[in-house]
Amino acid sequence: MGPETRAAPIGIFDSGLGGLTVVRAIRQALPHEDLVYLGDTARVPYGTRSAHTVLRYAQTCGEHLRQRGVKLLVVACNTVSAVALPMLRVELDIPVLGVVGPGARAGVAAAKGKRLGVLATPGTVASGAYSRAVAAEDPRVEVFAQAAPLLVPLAEEGWVSGQVPELVAARYLEPLFDAKVGALVLGCTHYPVLIDVIREQVARRCGPDVPVVDSAHALASELSELLRERELSNASTGPGRLRVLVTDRPSDFSAVARRFLGAELEESPVEAVDL
Ligand code: DGL
Repeated sequence: MGPETRAAPIGIFDSGLGGLTVVRAIRQALPHEDLVYLGDTARVPYGTRSAHTVLRYAQTCGEHLRQRGVKLLVVACNTVSAVALPMLRVELDIPVLGVVGPGARAGVAAAKGKRLGVLATPGTVASGAYSRAVAAEDPRVEVFAQAAPLLVPLAEEGWVSGQVPELVAARYLEPLFDAKVGALVLGCTHYPVLIDVIREQVARRCGPDVPVVDSAHALASELSELLRERELSNASTGPGRLRVLVTDRPSDFSAVARRFLGAELEESPVEAVDL
């Protein structure tokens, strides 16, 4: 690849701000890459919408980032990854990486042959995408997927500890405890913000040896691999810049973003875009 393409940013999008948990993992793994993050805050949540609607939203987000000249697209939303990845790969002329494949692979490794629990949005669960991705990796591993839509507003509200998230998490996890899963994948980008509560519930009911997998780290390491393979890594040794685009309420962004990103948003202002 030419130096111009290698220096171009990586595009990342999610239905809202949850994908910033993925941005965080990518920045740790690839500190020299420039990133453009698009959060579709005007249309979040995607996880309770029909596959047809999610496809339409995914198309506009992907096309917007492609027009901004990104060298590769990361679909940081599990729901979009579950239903729209093949369409985006056909329509866009850049590599497209989703979060379900890396999450499933990390889950299979963590489950060590036992059943694998997946906590995700209703859309992701209905798509069967995790079951397919796990079967492709190891057909012996059985998947138990549970929809947990109320965890999304709790994460956005910052209700990430105490009785309310504990009760909600415990209720959603119940069927997975009954299925005696050997590991749990957080199949939604919002859930890592609640990982302490989820881990505690899992440890209480299943014991301390059942790992909780955040697919963001698995995605970041597969992304590093892909950049190397395609000769797309940025040759710069300076710190990469993060640019943030949202489709609604840019002024609310900073406080919520801190929760998901685990850091200040540096100098980069948040830009509102109309899709
Ligand atoms: N970001 C979405 C996902 O990872 C969850 C939030 C939503 O429902 O839009 O599936």
